[in-house]
Amino acid sequence: MDIVPFLIFALFVKNMKEKLNKIDESAQNFIIKSKNDLENFRLKFLVKKGILNTLFLEFKELPSEEKKEIGQLLNNLKKSIEGIYQSENSKLNKEENINNQNNELPGYFSELGSRHIISQVLDDMIEIFERLGFSVSTGPEIEDDWHNFSALNFPKNHPARDMQDTFFVEEELALRTHTSSVQVRLMEKGDLPIRSIMPGRVYRNEAISARSNCFFHQVEGLYIDKGVSFSDLKQTLYNFVKEFFGPETKVRFRASYFPFTEPSAEMDIFLGTKTESDNRLTKGTGWLEILGCGMVDPNVLVNCNIDPKTYTGFAFGLGVDRIAMLKYGVKDLRTFFNNDQRFLGQFQSL
Ligand code: PHE
Repeated sequence: MDIVPFLIFALFVKNMKEKLNKIDESAQNFIIKSKNDLENFRLKFLVKKGILNTLFLEFKELPSEEKKEIGQLLNNLKKSIEGIYQSENSKLNKEENINNQNNELPGYFSELGSRHIISQVLDDMIEIFERLGFSVSTGPEIEDDWHNFSALNFPKNHPARDMQDTFFVEEELALRTHTSSVQVRLMEKGDLPIRSIMPGRVYRNEAISARSNCFFHQVEGLYIDKGVSFSDLKQTLYNFVKEFFGPETKVRFRASYFPFTEPSAEMDIFLGTKTESDNRLTKGTGWLEILGCGMVDPNVLVNCNIDPKTYTGFAFGLGVDRIAMLKYGVKDLRTFFNNDQRFLGQFQSL
């Protein structure tokens, strides 16, 4: 081949390569987001009158030396364009399938949750005491002997410790048996006066029955200031009962014993014996105990570095679960913690 036709040939091949590259690039960059786009792609490149076919027609006219080189390129381009078409087509089909499936499924129905009934009752109780000027204090559920017992005037080996059957973690550590332990922590801090309640879960190694469980909830309270008297205690508790159970609720105090209070009392509310369950709950007396209380024993104040000659105080402890039973007529304490939605779902909160 002499030089001039060779140059023309080389130039032709170069131009053709560039042309094919451009076409390849435009196929690669073709935006295909829908079936419609895909169809436009097909119309542009793949139909009889599309770009590829036109190129092949042109190709047929080429002299045979050029066919060899260009043919290879053209085949590559064809493969590339068909590849794009196929992969985009299957991608769109997949998406379509997913969308169709979702359209056919019923929507997910998620039920509204609500606060557990014991939490609701706890909140109601806390709110009443907050209105009376009490703050809220919390403490650990695993307690040492000092905070749960010794500081509260339970001497070692004293039978009073048997009043609260204890779950021990180690010799000196136990699951707290009452939230009075938080009272000790508060008094030790020494920020006087103290007017606070201690809501929380407590644990006792008791036989589980309709009336008692191995864990339950308390709201204890502590008020320490100069000149706090038993009548302050009574008035605070009357106030609570009226707010919580209604203004007509009848209550009574009975003398009692706790190592950490002196004098000590228990408070009952009157249910009557009209219904079978009132009869059973009150053991035929009509009265049901809902709390223990008393004036803080001077020994306890001394243990917590408070001078009993200057300060006096009262304390009380309410059982939340019992009170929730009463308020909602629940006959078996255990139902609160079985996690049966048919039961819990009856107590919707906002
Ligand atoms: N801590 C007592 C209990 O759990 C309740 C109580 C608290 C009694 C404060 C008197 C004063 O049984």
